[in-house]
Amino acid sequence: NVSDVGIDAIALSVPRGYVDLTELAEARGVPPSKYLHGLGTRQMAIAAPDEDPVTLAVNAARRLFERSGASPAEIGLCIVGTETAVDHSKPVAAFVHGLLGLPSACRMFEAKHACFGGTAGLLSAVDWIASGSARGRAALVVCTDIARYPLRSAGEPTQGAGAVALLVREKPRLLSLEVGQTGTFARDVHDFWRPLHHKEALVDGHYSVQCYLDALEGAYDAWRRLDGATDEPLVRTCYHVPYGKMARKAHRHRRMLEGATEQAADASFMVEVEPSLDLPSRIGNVYTGSLYLALASLLHTQARDIAGQRIGLFSYGSGCCAEFFAGRTAPEAAALVDRLDIDGPLRDSRQMTVADYERLRAEDADADRRTAPESARPRGKANEFDRAVYLGVD
Ligand code: CAA
Repeated sequence: NVSDVGIDAIALSVPRGYVDLTELAEARGVPPSKYLHGLGTRQMAIAAPDEDPVTLAVNAARRLFERSGASPAEIGLCIVGTETAVDHSKPVAAFVHGLLGLPSACRMFEAKHACFGGTAGLLSAVDWIASGSARGRAALVVCTDIARYPLRSAGEPTQGAGAVALLVREKPRLLSLEVGQTGTFARDVHDFWRPLHHKEALVDGHYSVQCYLDALEGAYDAWRRLDGATDEPLVRTCYHVPYGKMARKAHRHRRMLEGATEQAADASFMVEVEPSLDLPSRIGNVYTGSLYLALASLLHTQARDIAGQRIGLFSYGSGCCAEFFAGRTAPEAAALVDRLDIDGPLRDSRQMTVADYERLRAEDADADRRTAPESARPRGKANEFDRAVYLGVD
Protein backbone atom coordinates (compact mmCIF):
# COMPACT_ATOMS: atom_id res chain seq x y z
CA ASN A 1 0.00 0.00 0.00
CA VAL A 2 1.00 3.59 -0.61
CA SER A 3 1.06 5.92 2.39
CA ASP A 4 2.21 9.31 1.07
CA VAL A 5 -0.74 10.52 -1.02
CA GLY A 6 -2.28 13.94 -1.54
CA ILE A 7 -2.64 17.03 -3.69
CA ASP A 8 0.23 17.43 -6.12
CA ALA A 9 -0.98 20.52 -8.00
CA ILE A 10 -3.94 22.87 -8.12
CA ALA A 11 -5.39 25.24 -10.75
CA LEU A 12 -8.45 27.46 -11.06
CA SER A 13 -10.69 28.84 -13.73
CA VAL A 14 -13.18 31.66 -13.35
CA PRO A 15 -15.71 33.29 -15.69
CA ARG A 16 -14.79 36.45 -17.60
CA GLY A 17 -17.00 38.75 -15.52
CA TYR A 18 -17.63 39.65 -11.90
CA VAL A 19 -19.89 42.04 -10.01
CA ASP A 20 -18.50 44.28 -7.30
CA LEU A 21 -20.56 43.83 -4.15
CA THR A 22 -20.44 47.49 -3.15
CA GLU A 23 -22.29 48.23 -6.40
CA LEU A 24 -24.72 45.36 -5.85
CA ALA A 25 -25.45 46.62 -2.31
CA GLU A 26 -26.17 50.10 -3.65
CA ALA A 27 -28.49 48.68 -6.31
CA ARG A 28 -30.33 46.64 -3.68
CA GLY A 29 -30.60 49.51 -1.17
CA VAL A 30 -28.47 47.67 1.39
CA PRO A 31 -25.52 49.25 3.29
CA PRO A 32 -22.35 47.94 1.53
CA SER A 33 -20.93 47.07 4.97
CA LYS A 34 -23.51 44.27 5.24
CA TYR A 35 -22.01 42.46 2.25
CA LEU A 36 -18.36 43.46 2.83
CA HIS A 37 -18.20 42.89 6.60
CA GLY A 38 -21.49 41.21 7.57
CA LEU A 39 -20.97 38.46 4.97
CA GLY A 40 -17.26 38.92 4.17
CA THR A 41 -17.70 39.08 0.40
CA ARG A 42 -16.16 41.59 -2.05
CA GLN A 43 -16.87 40.33 -5.57
CA MET A 44 -18.89 37.54 -7.14
CA ALA A 45 -17.93 35.85 -10.40
CA ILE A 46 -20.78 35.66 -12.91
CA ALA A 47 -20.89 32.96 -15.57
CA ALA A 48 -22.14 33.85 -19.06
CA PRO A 49 -24.18 31.25 -21.00
CA ASP A 50 -21.05 29.97 -22.78
CA GLU A 51 -19.28 29.49 -19.42
CA ASP A 52 -21.04 26.44 -18.07
CA PRO A 53 -19.63 23.91 -15.55
CA VAL A 54 -18.02 21.88 -18.36
CA THR A 55 -16.22 24.89 -19.80
CA LEU A 56 -15.02 25.96 -16.38
CA ALA A 57 -13.87 22.42 -15.50
CA VAL A 58 -11.95 21.91 -18.73
CA ASN A 59 -10.25 25.29 -18.52
CA ALA A 60 -9.11 24.59 -14.93
CA ALA A 61 -7.87 21.10 -15.84
CA ARG A 62 -5.99 22.35 -18.92
CA ARG A 63 -4.28 24.96 -16.80
CA LEU A 64 -3.43 22.29 -14.21
CA PHE A 65 -1.51 20.21 -16.77
CA GLU A 66 0.16 23.21 -18.41
CA ARG A 67 1.40 24.70 -15.15
CA SER A 68 2.29 21.55 -13.19
CA GLY A 69 4.19 19.79 -15.96
CA ALA A 70 2.06 16.66 -15.50
CA SER A 71 0.67 14.85 -18.54
CA PRO A 72 -2.95 13.77 -19.16
CA ALA A 73 -1.44 10.37 -20.07
CA GLU A 74 -0.70 9.76 -16.35
CA ILE A 75 -4.39 9.88 -15.36
CA GLY A 76 -6.20 6.63 -14.47
CA LEU A 77 -9.15 8.16 -12.59
CA CYS A 78 -11.14 11.30 -13.40
CA ILE A 79 -13.82 12.48 -10.97
CA VAL A 80 -15.82 15.67 -11.35
CA GLY A 81 -17.61 17.00 -8.28
CA THR A 82 -20.51 19.28 -9.18
CA GLU A 83 -23.99 20.23 -8.08
CA THR A 84 -24.70 22.11 -11.29
CA ALA A 85 -24.37 19.22 -13.71
CA VAL A 86 -25.47 19.60 -17.33
CA ASP A 87 -27.13 16.20 -17.76
CA HIS A 88 -28.93 13.67 -15.58
CA SER A 89 -27.03 10.76 -17.09
CA LYS A 90 -23.85 11.73 -18.91
CA PRO A 91 -21.28 12.92 -16.37
CA VAL A 92 -19.32 16.17 -16.74
CA ALA A 93 -16.31 13.88 -16.34
CA ALA A 94 -17.02 12.42 -19.80
CA PHE A 95 -16.79 15.85 -21.45
CA VAL A 96 -13.60 16.57 -19.49
CA HIS A 97 -12.17 13.20 -20.50
CA GLY A 98 -12.88 13.87 -24.17
CA LEU A 99 -11.77 17.49 -24.34
CA LEU A 100 -8.50 16.77 -22.47
CA GLY A 101 -7.71 13.57 -24.30
CA LEU A 102 -7.38 11.44 -21.16
CA PRO A 103 -6.41 7.77 -21.63
CA SER A 104 -9.17 5.29 -22.47
CA ALA A 105 -7.96 3.09 -19.58
CA CYS A 106 -9.46 5.56 -17.13
CA ARG A 107 -12.33 5.28 -14.64
CA MET A 108 -14.48 8.40 -14.76
CA PHE A 109 -17.61 9.57 -13.01
CA GLU A 110 -19.38 12.53 -11.50
CA ALA A 111 -19.84 12.91 -7.74
CA LYS A 112 -22.90 14.71 -6.43
CA HIS A 113 -23.58 15.70 -2.88
CA ALA A 114 -24.12 19.48 -2.81
CA CYS A 115 -20.81 21.15 -1.87
CA PHE A 116 -19.40 17.86 -0.55
CA GLY A 117 -19.10 16.34 -4.07
CA GLY A 118 -15.54 17.60 -4.57
CA THR A 119 -14.38 16.13 -1.27
CA ALA A 120 -16.14 12.84 -2.05
CA GLY A 121 -14.07 12.81 -5.25
CA LEU A 122 -10.80 13.78 -3.58
CA LEU A 123 -11.07 11.23 -0.75
CA SER A 124 -12.07 8.47 -3.21
CA ALA A 125 -9.04 9.32 -5.32
CA VAL A 126 -6.77 9.26 -2.27
CA ASP A 127 -8.13 5.84 -1.23
CA TRP A 128 -7.73 4.54 -4.83
CA ILE A 129 -4.06 5.48 -4.76
CA ALA A 130 -3.42 4.38 -1.15
CA SER A 131 -4.97 0.95 -1.81
CA GLY A 132 -2.54 0.28 -4.66
CA SER A 133 -5.30 0.19 -7.31
CA ALA A 134 -3.75 3.16 -9.11
CA ARG A 135 -0.57 1.18 -9.92
CA GLY A 136 1.48 4.38 -10.13
CA ARG A 137 -1.12 6.42 -12.03
CA ALA A 138 -2.52 9.76 -10.87
CA ALA A 139 -6.10 11.03 -10.43
CA LEU A 140 -7.69 14.20 -11.76
CA VAL A 141 -10.40 15.64 -9.50
CA VAL A 142 -12.24 18.71 -10.76
CA CYS A 143 -14.76 20.67 -8.71
CA THR A 144 -16.93 22.90 -10.89
CA ASP A 145 -20.05 24.91 -10.11
CA ILE A 146 -22.17 27.96 -10.68
CA ALA A 147 -23.78 29.22 -7.47
CA ARG A 148 -27.01 30.96 -8.36
CA TYR A 149 -29.84 32.28 -6.17
CA PRO A 150 -32.88 34.36 -7.18
CA LEU A 151 -32.21 38.06 -7.87
CA ARG A 152 -32.84 40.20 -4.78
CA SER A 153 -32.86 37.16 -2.45
CA ALA A 154 -30.75 36.99 0.73
CA GLY A 155 -28.49 34.49 -1.02
CA GLU A 156 -27.80 36.74 -4.03
CA PRO A 157 -24.59 38.35 -2.62
CA THR A 158 -23.20 34.86 -1.91
CA GLN A 159 -23.22 33.75 -5.56
CA GLY A 160 -20.08 32.85 -7.50
CA ALA A 161 -18.79 30.55 -10.21
CA GLY A 162 -15.60 28.71 -10.99
CA ALA A 163 -13.70 25.45 -11.05
CA VAL A 164 -10.77 24.05 -9.07
CA ALA A 165 -8.74 21.22 -10.59
CA LEU A 166 -6.65 18.98 -8.34
CA LEU A 167 -3.96 16.53 -9.35
CA VAL A 168 -3.88 13.70 -6.79
CA ARG A 169 -0.92 11.34 -6.64
CA GLU A 170 1.80 9.64 -4.60
CA LYS A 171 4.52 11.83 -3.10
CA PRO A 172 2.54 15.01 -3.69
CA ARG A 173 4.39 18.31 -4.15
CA LEU A 174 1.79 20.47 -2.33
CA LEU A 175 -0.08 18.66 0.45
CA SER A 176 0.18 15.11 1.86
CA LEU A 177 -3.14 14.01 3.33
CA GLU A 178 -3.48 11.77 6.40
CA VAL A 179 -4.91 8.72 4.68
CA GLY A 180 -7.89 7.11 6.41
CA GLN A 181 -7.83 9.67 9.22
CA THR A 182 -11.06 11.59 8.68
CA GLY A 183 -13.93 12.56 10.96
CA THR A 184 -17.29 12.20 9.21
CA PHE A 185 -20.80 13.45 9.98
CA ALA A 186 -24.03 12.83 8.06
CA ARG A 187 -27.69 13.71 8.67
CA ASP A 188 -30.77 14.01 6.43
CA VAL A 189 -31.66 17.73 6.57
CA HIS A 190 -33.47 20.10 4.20
CA ASP A 191 -31.30 23.21 4.43
CA PHE A 192 -30.38 23.85 0.78
CA TRP A 193 -31.55 22.08 -2.37
CA ARG A 194 -32.28 22.57 -6.07
CA PRO A 195 -35.20 20.59 -7.46
CA LEU A 196 -34.88 19.18 -10.99
CA HIS A 197 -35.21 21.90 -13.67
CA HIS A 198 -34.57 24.77 -11.25
CA LYS A 199 -31.61 26.93 -12.25
CA GLU A 200 -31.57 28.69 -8.89
CA ALA A 201 -30.95 27.06 -5.53
CA LEU A 202 -33.57 27.11 -2.78
CA VAL A 203 -32.23 27.60 0.70
CA ASP A 204 -33.42 27.97 4.25
CA GLY A 205 -30.54 30.39 4.90
CA HIS A 206 -30.29 30.72 8.67
CA TYR A 207 -31.13 27.06 9.18
CA SER A 208 -28.35 26.14 6.70
CA VAL A 209 -25.85 28.05 8.85
CA GLN A 210 -26.95 26.05 11.90
CA CYS A 211 -26.75 22.76 9.94
CA TYR A 212 -23.19 23.66 8.86
CA LEU A 213 -22.14 24.35 12.47
CA ASP A 214 -23.79 21.14 13.77
CA ALA A 215 -22.03 19.13 11.06
CA LEU A 216 -18.69 20.78 11.88
CA GLU A 217 -19.14 19.84 15.51
CA GLY A 218 -19.96 16.23 14.62
CA ALA A 219 -17.12 15.82 12.12
CA TYR A 220 -14.55 17.57 14.31
CA ASP A 221 -15.51 15.51 17.37
CA ALA A 222 -15.15 12.32 15.32
CA TRP A 223 -11.76 13.47 14.00
CA ARG A 224 -10.47 14.43 17.46
CA ARG A 225 -11.19 10.93 18.74
CA LEU A 226 -8.92 9.31 16.13
CA ASP A 227 -5.58 7.97 17.36
CA GLY A 228 -2.92 10.69 17.18
CA ALA A 229 -5.25 13.31 15.67
CA THR A 230 -4.49 15.94 18.27
CA ASP A 231 -0.81 15.10 18.89
CA GLU A 232 0.37 18.01 16.76
CA PRO A 233 -1.47 21.32 16.36
CA LEU A 234 -2.99 22.48 13.08
CA VAL A 235 -1.27 25.75 12.18
CA ARG A 236 -3.99 26.72 9.69
CA THR A 237 -7.48 25.43 8.90
CA CYS A 238 -9.36 25.80 5.62
CA TYR A 239 -13.16 25.62 5.81
CA HIS A 240 -15.92 25.36 3.24
CA VAL A 241 -16.58 29.05 2.42
CA PRO A 242 -20.11 29.85 1.18
CA TYR A 243 -19.15 33.41 2.25
CA GLY A 244 -16.22 34.55 4.40
CA LYS A 245 -18.22 35.16 7.57
CA MET A 246 -19.28 31.51 7.62
CA ALA A 247 -15.64 30.44 7.95
CA ARG A 248 -15.25 32.89 10.83
CA LYS A 249 -18.34 31.46 12.56
CA ALA A 250 -17.04 27.92 11.95
CA HIS A 251 -13.62 28.65 13.41
CA ARG A 252 -15.10 30.34 16.46
CA HIS A 253 -17.43 27.38 17.03
CA ARG A 254 -14.60 24.86 16.68
CA ARG A 255 -12.24 26.74 18.98
CA MET A 256 -14.95 27.23 21.60
CA LEU A 257 -15.62 23.48 21.52
CA GLU A 258 -11.99 23.13 22.61
CA GLY A 259 -12.60 25.54 25.49
CA ALA A 260 -11.29 28.80 23.98
CA THR A 261 -13.04 32.07 24.80
CA GLU A 262 -14.80 33.92 21.98
CA GLN A 263 -12.04 36.54 21.98
CA ALA A 264 -9.25 33.96 21.80
CA ALA A 265 -11.11 32.13 19.02
CA ASP A 266 -11.47 35.34 17.00
CA ALA A 267 -7.82 36.26 17.55
CA SER A 268 -6.66 32.87 16.25
CA PHE A 269 -8.95 33.33 13.22
CA MET A 270 -6.74 36.14 11.93
CA VAL A 271 -3.69 33.85 11.91
CA GLU A 272 -5.19 30.46 11.19
CA VAL A 273 -8.01 31.19 8.70
CA GLU A 274 -7.86 34.69 7.23
CA PRO A 275 -5.13 33.90 4.62
CA SER A 276 -7.43 31.29 3.08
CA LEU A 277 -10.26 33.77 2.46
CA ASP A 278 -8.74 36.13 -0.10
CA LEU A 279 -9.63 34.17 -3.26
CA PRO A 280 -13.10 33.14 -1.96
CA SER A 281 -13.91 36.82 -1.25
CA ARG A 282 -12.94 37.73 -4.85
CA ILE A 283 -14.81 34.87 -6.57
CA GLY A 284 -17.71 34.00 -4.26
CA ASN A 285 -19.16 30.61 -3.48
CA VAL A 286 -18.00 27.91 -5.88
CA TYR A 287 -19.86 25.13 -4.00
CA THR A 288 -17.85 21.88 -4.53
CA GLY A 289 -14.62 23.80 -5.10
CA SER A 290 -15.04 26.18 -2.19
CA LEU A 291 -12.80 24.38 0.33
CA TYR A 292 -10.14 23.91 -2.35
CA LEU A 293 -10.36 27.56 -3.36
CA ALA A 294 -9.63 28.34 0.30
CA LEU A 295 -6.67 25.93 0.21
CA ALA A 296 -5.45 27.53 -3.03
CA SER A 297 -5.68 30.93 -1.38
CA LEU A 298 -3.70 29.74 1.65
CA LEU A 299 -0.97 28.17 -0.48
CA HIS A 300 -0.84 31.21 -2.75
CA THR A 301 -0.27 33.59 0.15
CA GLN A 302 1.61 31.46 2.70
CA ALA A 303 3.16 28.33 1.19
CA ARG A 304 6.61 29.40 2.44
CA ASP A 305 5.46 30.14 6.00
CA ILE A 306 3.72 26.78 6.41
CA ALA A 307 6.26 24.52 4.67
CA GLY A 308 6.33 21.13 6.41
CA GLN A 309 3.48 22.11 8.76
CA ARG A 310 0.15 20.48 9.47
CA ILE A 311 -3.15 22.04 8.38
CA GLY A 312 -6.84 21.12 8.85
CA LEU A 313 -9.56 20.93 6.20
CA PHE A 314 -13.32 21.00 6.69
CA SER A 315 -15.80 20.18 3.94
CA TYR A 316 -19.58 20.67 4.23
CA GLY A 317 -22.28 19.66 1.78
CA SER A 318 -25.89 20.59 2.50
CA GLY A 319 -28.32 17.82 2.93
CA CYS A 320 -25.90 17.02 4.71
CA CYS A 321 -22.48 15.35 4.85
CA ALA A 322 -19.30 16.79 6.32
CA GLU A 323 -15.73 15.65 6.82
CA PHE A 324 -12.80 17.01 8.83
CA PHE A 325 -9.30 15.86 7.89
CA ALA A 326 -5.70 17.03 7.96
CA GLY A 327 -2.58 17.17 5.85
CA ARG A 328 1.00 18.41 5.79
CA THR A 329 2.34 21.04 3.41
CA ALA A 330 5.23 19.68 1.35
CA PRO A 331 8.62 21.34 1.99
CA GLU A 332 8.91 22.18 -1.72
CA ALA A 333 5.34 23.52 -2.06
CA ALA A 334 6.33 27.19 -2.32
CA ALA A 335 8.54 26.65 -5.37
CA LEU A 336 5.73 24.86 -7.20
CA VAL A 337 3.15 27.47 -6.12
CA ASP A 338 5.26 30.14 -7.87
CA ARG A 339 5.02 28.15 -11.10
CA LEU A 340 1.32 27.41 -10.73
CA ASP A 341 0.43 31.16 -10.74
CA ILE A 342 -2.72 30.19 -8.87
CA ASP A 343 -4.58 33.52 -9.12
CA GLY A 344 -3.56 34.10 -12.77
CA PRO A 345 -7.11 33.55 -14.14
CA LEU A 346 -8.43 36.40 -12.01
CA ARG A 347 -6.21 38.89 -13.84
CA ASP A 348 -8.28 38.39 -16.99
CA SER A 349 -11.69 38.87 -15.35
CA ARG A 350 -13.51 42.15 -15.86
CA GLN A 351 -16.03 43.99 -13.74
CA MET A 352 -19.58 44.09 -15.11
CA THR A 353 -22.27 46.53 -14.07
CA VAL A 354 -25.26 45.41 -12.07
CA ALA A 355 -27.43 46.26 -15.11
CA ASP A 356 -25.30 43.99 -17.34
CA TYR A 357 -25.50 41.20 -14.75
CA GLU A 358 -29.29 41.48 -14.54
CA ARG A 359 -29.57 41.50 -18.35
CA LEU A 360 -27.35 38.43 -18.58
CA ARG A 361 -29.50 36.61 -16.03
CA ALA A 362 -32.70 37.49 -17.90
CA GLU A 363 -31.23 36.29 -21.21
CA ASP A 364 -29.75 33.21 -19.59
CA ALA A 365 -33.04 31.88 -18.21
CA ASP A 366 -33.52 29.45 -21.11
CA ALA A 367 -29.94 29.23 -22.40
CA ASP A 368 -29.71 25.50 -21.87
CA ARG A 369 -33.09 24.84 -23.52
CA ARG A 370 -32.30 26.58 -26.79
CA THR A 371 -32.46 24.52 -29.93
CA ALA A 372 -29.24 24.80 -31.88
CA PRO A 373 -29.28 25.34 -35.65
CA GLU A 374 -29.35 22.13 -37.73
CA SER A 375 -25.71 22.56 -38.73
CA ALA A 376 -24.53 22.52 -35.10
CA ARG A 377 -26.35 19.34 -34.09
CA PRO A 378 -24.33 16.16 -33.72
CA ARG A 379 -25.32 13.76 -36.52
CA GLY A 380 -27.75 11.11 -35.41
CA LYS A 381 -28.09 12.62 -31.97
CA ALA A 382 -31.13 14.04 -30.17
CA ASN A 383 -32.92 16.88 -31.94
CA GLU A 384 -32.60 19.30 -29.12
CA PHE A 385 -28.89 19.99 -28.85
CA ASP A 386 -29.33 21.83 -25.60
CA ARG A 387 -25.77 22.73 -24.69
CA ALA A 388 -23.94 26.00 -25.09
CA VAL A 389 -20.86 24.39 -23.67
CA TYR A 390 -18.90 23.69 -26.84
CA LEU A 391 -18.68 27.38 -27.58
CA GLY A 392 -16.70 28.46 -24.55
CA VAL A 393 -13.74 26.12 -24.12
CA ASP A 394 -10.49 27.88 -25.00
N1 CAA B 1 -22.84 46.18 8.56
C1 CAA B 1 -22.16 45.11 8.99
N2 CAA B 1 -22.75 43.90 9.24
C2 CAA B 1 -24.07 43.80 9.01
C3 CAA B 1 -24.84 44.88 8.56
C4 CAA B 1 -24.18 46.12 8.33
N3 CAA B 1 -24.83 47.20 7.88
N4 CAA B 1 -26.12 44.46 8.43
C5 CAA B 1 -26.16 43.16 8.79
N5 CAA B 1 -24.90 42.75 9.14
C6 CAA B 1 -24.48 41.42 9.57
C7 CAA B 1 -25.48 40.72 10.46
O1 CAA B 1 -25.34 41.12 11.80
C8 CAA B 1 -25.10 39.27 10.23
O2 CAA B 1 -23.96 38.95 10.98
P1 CAA B 1 -23.92 37.59 11.85
O3 CAA B 1 -24.14 36.45 10.89
O4 CAA B 1 -22.56 37.60 12.46
O5 CAA B 1 -25.04 37.70 12.84
C9 CAA B 1 -24.65 39.24 8.75
O6 CAA B 1 -24.42 40.61 8.40
C10 CAA B 1 -25.72 38.69 7.82
O7 CAA B 1 -26.91 39.37 8.07
P2 CAA B 1 -28.31 38.60 8.05
O8 CAA B 1 -28.22 37.38 8.91
O9 CAA B 1 -29.39 39.59 8.31
O10 CAA B 1 -28.32 38.20 6.51
P3 CAA B 1 -29.47 37.63 5.64
O11 CAA B 1 -30.56 37.07 6.45
O12 CAA B 1 -29.83 38.68 4.66
O13 CAA B 1 -28.73 36.44 4.84
C11 CAA B 1 -27.69 34.29 4.71
C12 CAA B 1 -27.62 35.70 5.32
C13 CAA B 1 -28.83 33.52 5.38
C14 CAA B 1 -26.37 33.58 4.98
C15 CAA B 1 -27.94 34.40 3.19
O14 CAA B 1 -26.88 35.11 2.59
C16 CAA B 1 -28.12 33.07 2.51
O15 CAA B 1 -29.18 32.48 2.49
N6 CAA B 1 -27.01 32.55 1.87
C17 CAA B 1 -27.05 31.29 1.13
C18 CAA B 1 -27.00 30.08 2.05
C19 CAA B 1 -25.63 29.86 2.65
O16 CAA B 1 -24.62 30.26 2.12
N7 CAA B 1 -25.60 29.13 3.79
C20 CAA B 1 -24.34 28.81 4.44
C21 CAA B 1 -24.38 27.46 5.13
S1 CAA B 1 -24.90 26.20 3.97
C22 CAA B 1 -23.50 25.88 3.04
O17 CAA B 1 -22.42 26.21 3.42
C23 CAA B 1 -23.66 25.18 1.72
C24 CAA B 1 -23.51 26.19 0.62
O18 CAA B 1 -22.41 26.40 0.11
C25 CAA B 1 -24.71 26.97 0.19
